Amino acid sequence: ERPKIFATRGIPSPGMDLLQEECDVTVWPHARIISHEELEESVVGVDGILCHYINKIDDHILDAAGPNLKVVATFAVGYDLIDVEACHKRNVRVGHTPNVLSDSVAELAVALILASSRRLRQGMAAITNGLADGKWENGLYLCGPETKGSTVGIVGLGRIGLAVARRLKGFDVAKFLYYDVNEVPWAAEVSAEFTSFEKLLTESDFVVACCSSNTDNWGLFDKAAFKKMKSSAVFVNVTRGVLVNQDDLYEALTTGQIFAAGLDATTPEPISKDHPLVKLDNCVILPHIGSSTTATRNTMSIMTAKNILAGIKGEPLVQCVKNNEN
Ligand code: GLV
Ligand code: GLV
Repeated sequence: ERPKIFATRGIPSPGMDLLQEECDVTVWPHARIISHEELEESVVGVDGILCHYINKIDDHILDAAGPNLKVVATFAVGYDLIDVEACHKRNVRVGHTPNVLSDSVAELAVALILASSRRLRQGMAAITNGLADGKWENGLYLCGPETKGSTVGIVGLGRIGLAVARRLKGFDVAKFLYYDVNEVPWAAEVSAEFTSFEKLLTESDFVVACCSSNTDNWGLFDKAAFKKMKSSAVFVNVTRGVLVNQDDLYEALTTGQIFAAGLDATTPEPISKDHPLVKLDNCVILPHIGSSTTATRNTMSIMTAKNILAGIKGEPLVQCVKNNEN
């Protein structure tokens, strides 16, 4: 009998084709994100679950799946919503897709840095709505801070943070600061200086959140944090919405505590079009598309499929989440 896989979303065909050669794959058929209850109902008796960063995989899901379940593979690098310990207790392996998406997420971080500092949202609106008369007379129309000569503070100098710094070096950034749980040796490559969170906030012109999410850093960017930032600072988040207190961010953006923000992650996702942050013209929000280049998504699909195929055969996964790995 062919192994049964439930997928909470579709993945590109290079990976899907691989999976379907050996497995019966059922994909959640609706455009909306599957609810936790619907996921529980959908996984009964499966051998593998293909999920996404947005799906919570906990005891309820694992119990519902039952004893056939051998592998949970997320089409993502982040696995903050997967209860890895609960999976391992049941001998269920957990796979993810690190490394292959670092460059595309970093590229989007740079896009958000530029879009929010150079006020692309306002510039585009000026074109689509028609330019108000006289707006550009004083020569400072739609001006913003520049990356050249700036200090960039990277929160989480992991694979993605490093890839952001590598790219920004080419923009003649003057200084990189980073804050992380530990000092990391690869910081030397981009001459990034290990610093306290407070110093990073106070001194950076651009603050870029690249760290993975865990309960310790939920709400890290709150009122106190935004107050420490420069009024000209630009804040960018390409990781998880939970890192940010969005009410505090709204206040910071509307009272001139910071200049602008660029977010690829929000709470919830997708964020409602009626959310106050969405109305702000100094806030650029994207629907979590950090890894969304065609090449990266195809590569991720293959890695995810190989993780599942290895898992159902009891072989080592291509990229396995271990117990204490962060
Ligand atoms: C997306 O956020 C991911 O974790 O890959
Ligand atoms: C975090 O997810 C990283 O890859 O740095």
